[in-house]
Amino acid sequence: MRACGYLRQNGKIERKMNTRRAFFINTLTSASALAAAKASNIESRIGKKDWRGITREDLPTPCMILDADLFEKNLNHMAATCKQSGLNFRGHVKIHKSVDIAKRQAALGAIGVTVATEAEAELMSGAGVKGVLLTRQPAGKEKTMRMVALAKRDPTFITILDDQWMADQLDEAAAAAKTKVNVVVDIFAGLQRAGIEPGPKALALAQRISGKKNLNFKGLMAYSGIASHTKGWEARKAQSMKDIGGMLETADLCKKAGLPVEIRSGGSTGTYNIDGGHLTELQAGSYMFMDTGYIKIGSKAGNAIYDDFAQSLTILTTIIVRQHGGVATIDAGLKAMLKPTDTVKGRPDVVVENQGAEYGILKWKAGDRDYKLGDKVELYTTHLDMTTNVYDRYYLAKGDQIIDAYPVMGRAGAAQR
Ligand SMILES: Cc1ncc(COP(=O)(O)O)c(C=O)c1O
Repeated sequence: MRACGYLRQNGKIERKMNTRRAFFINTLTSASALAAAKASNIESRIGKKDWRGITREDLPTPCMILDADLFEKNLNHMAATCKQSGLNFRGHVKIHKSVDIAKRQAALGAIGVTVATEAEAELMSGAGVKGVLLTRQPAGKEKTMRMVALAKRDPTFITILDDQWMADQLDEAAAAAKTKVNVVVDIFAGLQRAGIEPGPKALALAQRISGKKNLNFKGLMAYSGIASHTKGWEARKAQSMKDIGGMLETADLCKKAGLPVEIRSGGSTGTYNIDGGHLTELQAGSYMFMDTGYIKIGSKAGNAIYDDFAQSLTILTTIIVRQHGGVATIDAGLKAMLKPTDTVKGRPDVVVENQGAEYGILKWKAGDRDYKLGDKVELYTTHLDMTTNVYDRYYLAKGDQIIDAYPVMGRAGAAQR
């Protein structure tokens, strides 16, 4: 206040201050003010899909960036390969949890989506996505009733189950709701988490289901999670054939018993070029983004890097502290799902460390392409499903320019259950 009074009395200083004020005003109205205005404005512009002049620099970090060209290439390559090998495609939603992405897959010929939870099934179906396959049996009254209600609303919905009791429960609930539920029998494929023993036991379950008035037996599923990340294509193929062998044998038993098996579902990003001729449909998910684990499984051509699909997803972060040589702090830590196995795009020499809930650390050889305060750094993530689950949206980018955003659905709380 006193300074203002003083300024009013002293023309010389006032003139000087005016010049400085003008400088600040000019500067603000140019670079930083524009950036600040953009940042505060970004939420309203997302709703309007108004991306003019919005670049990576304008985004609040940490956030997810999807390289639009690489992403599209991945989607197209998977769709083309499935078509070529006679596989239907029913991609897994757990990786992306995005209706926009499911619809893009459908436009390329996907017959539906695979989901892990009841909430994902409801959200996808509710958004108009047809052919939802739930791959975790809806055990317990609450889940059973919800999935019967979903089947009534959406006759294209399918659930798996691996248990006689579950079949009885589902049939009873469907009868009470005066509807029919499509069912696929889940066969053990190496992971103890689920799946009935293949062979006569699985056949008996399939027969019981097909004998139920309110269940519609559609076929079998066998998901080999071990094969998906087996290193080396030949070893992966051997593992996959071993793990789905029981399902193929059960399919033969069903046919011999006069039970048509319309669906043989399973497979993953790692086995997309192995499963043709064995499965009728593929459940792959990670292929669209790829993570730092998946790219190390090796390609059919013998490359150590699994280069069939590109790493299209990155986490954009900002350098927020630069106090020590060869060390920088970024604004992504445990809450952003940062892992020491994450890597830095374009800088394989940089080591990533976690330093608490809100901080990550980057380390490199001091003096070698040193980062500056405020620099943007993009990370490749280690565990896709966990990472995508903590962000609101994907920002699609072409070069530096943001061209679209896809919301991530049902990430937390009630929406996730
Ligand atoms: C049931 C099921 N099917 C398919 C997949 C394949 O997914 P991805 O291609 O990401 O390995 C998964 C992954 O966890 C799964 O749980």
